[in-house]
Amino acid sequence: MKNPFRYGIIVDEPFFIDREDEQKDITQWLTTKQSIVLYSPRRYGKSSLMLKLLNQFKKNGYNTVYVDFFKVHSKTKFVELFYQEILKTLQPWEKAIKQINQFVKKIKPVISFGDDGNPLIGLQSSDSMSDISEVFDLPQKLAKDKPWIVVFDEFQDVAKLNGDSFEKELRAALIHHDNVGYVFMGSQSNMLLNMFTHPNKAFYQFAKMLELKKINKDIMVDYVSDHFNSTDFNIKIDEAKNIVDIADNIPHYVQYLASAVWETAIESRQVYPNTIQTAVSKILNNQLDYFSSMYQGLTPQQQKVLLALRSESEGIFTDKYKKKYNLSALSTTQRAIERLIHLGMIEKESGSYQFSDPFFKEWLKTI
Ligand SMILES: Nc1ncnc2c1ncn2[C@@H]1O[C@H](COP(=O)(O)OP(=O)(O)OP(=O)(O)O)[C@@H](O)[C@H]1O
Ligand SMILES: [Mg+2]
Repeated sequence: MKNPFRYGIIVDEPFFIDREDEQKDITQWLTTKQSIVLYSPRRYGKSSLMLKLLNQFKKNGYNTVYVDFFKVHSKTKFVELFYQEILKTLQPWEKAIKQINQFVKKIKPVISFGDDGNPLIGLQSSDSMSDISEVFDLPQKLAKDKPWIVVFDEFQDVAKLNGDSFEKELRAALIHHDNVGYVFMGSQSNMLLNMFTHPNKAFYQFAKMLELKKINKDIMVDYVSDHFNSTDFNIKIDEAKNIVDIADNIPHYVQYLASAVWETAIESRQVYPNTIQTAVSKILNNQLDYFSSMYQGLTPQQQKVLLALRSESEGIFTDKYKKKYNLSALSTTQRAIERLIHLGMIEKESGSYQFSDPFFKEWLKTI
């Protein structure tokens, strides 16, 4: 019997639920070539949603490109990944290469073959990367017969490439692409938002902003309950709710905890309240060293703010909160919050602060 929950990978049905409104909106915008920024805290399901949509677009006759900037550590790497995706979408590759070569003069793709016989793209080492606008322009130039959708995931990582000049070059090219819909995605919301909303930045007001929210809680609870039931496990609705609550209803963590609870209950096939506690304890035990070194690396002020946040996530800048948790001056708390966000430990969510990893919060409750 297979575990009916999935995490840590891109998911599709039957592990992918909801997001109907988002799918409808994004499809509509991209069909009219309206570029968008899709952002959310980490692990809400951006990549899964977008890859699902790209499959749909492919079926409807679009050419698609998906580049994950997490993997892009140089301009050369960007061009290789970009070519690879274009090659994939324009198969067969012999024809694709001809099409690409028609439009690029300076940076020609070089094909070699991997052990599995699949073509691999490389570049001539002599190629200069000082101006890669002809590469950016490819989707637009190739879009004579079919429209294109180009997705840049983890786009805030563009900062790794001497971000400003790359951003400017990219934006200078993209502004002319009326046959291509672009999607910029990212998780470190602050950085990504800044790139599109700050007047000094190259991509200022370039795309429509769309925040991906959590999945409706009742739908998530039903998902957990249904997937236990489908493998003949008994679970009461209160227990399914409890799993979703502990995971702060973050899709990844709901699936992660539900999966661990399923493993824990595999003998009895019955989920009791203490089954969930056992699963949580196992997860915390596995991450003990990691959590404690994260915590030890913080200043006393930052630690105090985290300890306060584990109990109460709203009203942190009020006098009442400050007194209750014995915090220092407002400016100190503000600095601590900024630092904790920068470290990826907490994130702003609808006006309150949430732990990026709900199990870190659970661990803080044990100290
Ligand atoms: N629509 C969904 N229904 C159910 N679970 C989902 C859904 N979308 C995502 N998940 C869960 O969340 C996990 C993370 O999804 P995904 O990688 O798509 O999110 P992300 O926002 O791109 O994350 P990251 O910030 O790490 O890039 C998945 O492995 C899955 O467990
Ligand atoms: Mg992602």
